[in-house]
Amino acid sequence: MKVTVVGAGAVGATCADNIARKELATELVLLDIKEGLAEGKAQDMMQTAALLGFDTKITGSTNDYSRTAGSEVVVITSGLPRKPGMTREELIGTNAGIVKGVAENILKHSPNAILLIISNPMDTMTYLALKATGLPKNRIIGMGGALDSARFKYQLSRHLGASPADLNAVVVGGHGDTTMIPLIRYATWNSTPVSSLLSEEKQKQIVADTMVGGATLTKLIGTSAWYAPGAAGASLVESIVRDEKKLISCCVAVDGEYGQKDICIGVPVVIGKNGWEEIVDFKLNAEEQALFNKSADAVRNMNDVLKTLNVY
Ligand code: 2OP
Repeated sequence: MKVTVVGAGAVGATCADNIARKELATELVLLDIKEGLAEGKAQDMMQTAALLGFDTKITGSTNDYSRTAGSEVVVITSGLPRKPGMTREELIGTNAGIVKGVAENILKHSPNAILLIISNPMDTMTYLALKATGLPKNRIIGMGGALDSARFKYQLSRHLGASPADLNAVVVGGHGDTTMIPLIRYATWNSTPVSSLLSEEKQKQIVADTMVGGATLTKLIGTSAWYAPGAAGASLVESIVRDEKKLISCCVAVDGEYGQKDICIGVPVVIGKNGWEEIVDFKLNAEEQALFNKSADAVRNMNDVLKTLNVY
């Protein structure tokens, strides 16, 4: 099994590190446009193999896509990250051209690859990848919901004093500070609805803190976060390469599901060897559906910017 991670910045390198530690690939290629960066980080990671005991062979490449040939899964993290005070949406002009170029180069050498998109604004970059490549929709997956759901579980765990691993909680909608929808009504602590354990006020706080999870970190660190985004990317790679059929919220092309069409947006999907294999209907109530529709409108407005950029 060969996997490629494009972009050897903090998110890409962390994703690669997680893939190697879990031995999700026999061969892992890290590629970056910056001379020597991917080679250096790949070597650094390989020097942990004897310490950590993994068998994945990691190599780095400066923009030589022929080295990625035959990859089954490709994670795309390329593009600029957010700076403090910046929204993910502000990155669209710069990152659209980068993501399109990367997707095209990858497919020249790995025509059967499943593409995992992490670059921001993630919903629009996922839609762009779909439109620009013309790949079957099941092979294009945006990572946002996996990350946001992990952040939701973190916030719940703090307030409940629970292990994050004991929590079930899902975020749907766009991967934006105002567009994501943490579905607290569905969240459980080992089957007990958290709504029966937390006051209304606490629940509202948890939802609000989850929504600004990324922005909070960007402010603290000075750039976008990477540990959870990288781990979220690797968790999707894991469900694909092991054909786990995990139910994970991801940004995918909906065609009538959740009342939306011609858009990539976060919904619960089954992830397996074919990419995303099925959308699961969580039966939103009227209030949640209204939020979802509003979120879709915002994502659609962002997608419209792509038209002015002439990228597909
Ligand atoms: C985040 O939310 C990188 O968009 C990513 O941290």
